[in-house]
Amino acid sequence: MIDDKDAFYVADLGDIVKKHMRWHKALPRVTPFYAVKCNDSRAVVKTLAVLGAGFDCASKTEIQLVQSIGVPPERIIYANPCKQVSQIKHAASSGVQMMTFDSEVELMKVARAHPKAKLVLRITTDDSKAVCRLSVKFGATLKTSRLLLERAKELDLAIVGVSFHVGSGCTDPETFVQAISDARCVFDMGAELGFNMYLLDIGGGFPGSEDVKLKFEEITNVINPALDKYFPSDSGINIIAEPGRYYVASAFTLAVNIIAKKIVLKEQTGSDEVECYSDYDITSGSSVLIRPKPDDSCYSCSIWGPTCDGLDRIVERFNMPELQVGDWILFENMGAYTVAAASTFNGFQRPTIHYVMSRPAWQLMQQIKEQGFLAEAEEQDVSSLPVSCAWESGIEYPATCASASINV
Ligand SMILES: Cc1ncc(COP(=O)(O)O)c(C=O)c1O
Repeated sequence: MIDDKDAFYVADLGDIVKKHMRWHKALPRVTPFYAVKCNDSRAVVKTLAVLGAGFDCASKTEIQLVQSIGVPPERIIYANPCKQVSQIKHAASSGVQMMTFDSEVELMKVARAHPKAKLVLRITTDDSKAVCRLSVKFGATLKTSRLLLERAKELDLAIVGVSFHVGSGCTDPETFVQAISDARCVFDMGAELGFNMYLLDIGGGFPGSEDVKLKFEEITNVINPALDKYFPSDSGINIIAEPGRYYVASAFTLAVNIIAKKIVLKEQTGSDEVECYSDYDITSGSSVLIRPKPDDSCYSCSIWGPTCDGLDRIVERFNMPELQVGDWILFENMGAYTVAAASTFNGFQRPTIHYVMSRPAWQLMQQIKEQGFLAEAEEQDVSSLPVSCAWESGIEYPATCASASINV
């Protein structure tokens, strides 16, 4: 039973359509394989499937989700370098051939469980400047890459390409350049050993909102020349990426209701009032929407989640006007690693997601579905038009929303 004061998300699927168009414009040579781990909502996956994206799946469950929507196996990469054998077998039986690896043990597992796999060697990157580092766990060095290629040859496995991930929330585009150049070295090693390598996977790491230091186009303006230098168009190499955050972060807004309030008295005497913040960026990638009125007084506050855990602190210190139980706070840019990572600790249910999409965005999506990606589509502005709605929960579509229904 949903209480009208429960937290909820509003997800604008039209924002994902816009992001897709922006991607094509900024990275015309790179096919996006959306990283399902970032937000596995069925409506998100379905929207991207309709738009023709591929998918990066990390597990059997993600493969099943994507295939249940009708995505063919060629549009799936099993991009987890350390896989359970039973899940490798599942990939084999469901026709998924592309998969990443970065170790000899993984090669031996794949040789037994999926000898026809098309393997993609994941190399390490210098992700020291990323918000969330991944090369501490995954990726082979150039030296190890040569040994792995030799071992794959002995095992009669097909290595079809190279992948990397610069870390989620990349803050230095030069990391991409170095990784693309390293990938070129591995392609050359592979060619020496007789492999036919045709796939470069430049991973994720792209920003999903505008409240970041390094904008999407600032990164792509560095990536494109590097691709042209090391993998020119006439090289015939297919280039893909695994964006997660990029596609979903800004599409989701979270509304939370204040259920309790505690006033903490200051130890020293003096005024409690502080300068008001507005639209203040709290953490990388998400911002809280507080719009104080000119005559509001503000106080230093912290924001806590509803569980009994002392670690459940959302914001340590934030200057806000005084709010009351029952007031709402909006958090923007909440689509990445939120719904997919949420738990029901203490019995608190995950927030319901209400999907919306503007009619023009819906029509554009249908147009892309039917006719492929069109140059004219890039010119259309889907940002300024009103949204219509689609409910994931299967509630009847109101008449005004009829053409925006998403079949989830
Ligand atoms: C293998 C792989 N690909 C893609 C992604 C998505 O990264 P991002 O959300 O930074 O685009 C991740 C994130 O952890 C990942 O591990």
